[in-house]
Amino acid sequence: MALSEAQAPVAAESLRLQALGERDVDAGLALSDAAGWNQTGDDWALFVRHGHAIGLRDEQGRWVATAAALPYGSERGWISMVLVADAWRHRGLASRLMDACVAHLRAGGIVPVLDATPAGAEVYRRIGFVPGFEIDRWERRALHPAREPHSAGAVRPAGAGDRDAVLAFDRASTGLDRGFLLDDFLARPETRIWLGNDGRGFVVARAGRRATQIGPLVAGDTGQAIALLEAAIDASAGSAPLARPGERTIFLDLPRARREVAAWLERQGFVRQRPFVRMALAATEPPRLGAAMFVLAGPEFG
Ligand SMILES: CC(C)(COP(=O)(O)OP(=O)(O)OC[C@H]1O[C@@H](n2cnc3c(N)ncnc32)[C@H](O)[C@@H]1OP(=O)(O)O)[C@@H](O)C(=O)NCCC(=O)NCCS
Repeated sequence: MALSEAQAPVAAESLRLQALGERDVDAGLALSDAAGWNQTGDDWALFVRHGHAIGLRDEQGRWVATAAALPYGSERGWISMVLVADAWRHRGLASRLMDACVAHLRAGGIVPVLDATPAGAEVYRRIGFVPGFEIDRWERRALHPAREPHSAGAVRPAGAGDRDAVLAFDRASTGLDRGFLLDDFLARPETRIWLGNDGRGFVVARAGRRATQIGPLVAGDTGQAIALLEAAIDASAGSAPLARPGERTIFLDLPRARREVAAWLERQGFVRQRPFVRMALAATEPPRLGAAMFVLAGPEFG
């Protein structure tokens, strides 16, 4: 719940910095909902279980700000979920939580990485983050007419026995050890996964708060990436489990370098919603796009 001006702020320094626990998932969700974001309670639970999810509480114990650091193995970790309740903005809370996330990762020798909006990128650049590649969030609104798939036969739905292959494709394309992330996505009842029949990639579609989120998508080439996207989009817009009323809007985060895929998305009725830039702190080199990475898991997961 956003705080009114009347309730607002004692000194920001008096807020208590604490780790979020499982019981705080709903409070986190209230902040991401207020910002119009797409994360679900499952996503927040994932940050609590596998990451360093922290926040600031007021004197009544209400969470007024959050941030999360999510290490993938011992080399790189993502920072995300930087959210501050309206009444508490412009008092340095986001900066304080950001500093704590950076310190947490660096204490473990892990390079902090994040996907920043243009406004965020300016702030992060000042504290030493260097930009890598650009990303666009693409969106297609609900009720877009479904169409016949053209690439039938190029992909197949994944089964339980495909988990190891999916994790191996992801590791090969990202260089990240993020099996726990994919296992979490795979365990959600509404998640759907397809594999390319050329044996070189996969796509995940999962339910979000506002829209179905497609990604990650790993593929050997653009044609296979589009075939995988078709399967995921058709299932999300059609009659499959992901297509419950209100959940048929689709989001996906595409590196800008994937121009052919972007042109294809435009023909399918997608529009660019907003840009991000991938940034890394004190990295020996800026973040680079893996050769087979076509769609990201999302700005909060990389
Ligand atoms: C962006 C946001 C987290 C800033 O929180 P805050 O506590 O007011 O920020 P601070 O006072 O620590 O930051 C100092 C300055 O850096 C800016 N800043 C910090 N982090 C930022 C970010 N990630 N994106 C944009 N601006 C940011 C702040 O706007 C602030 O500038 P201002 O006081 O002139 O407006 C807050 O406005 C918010 O929750 N917005 C909605 C969610 C969001 O966009 N999160 C960031 C996602 S990358």
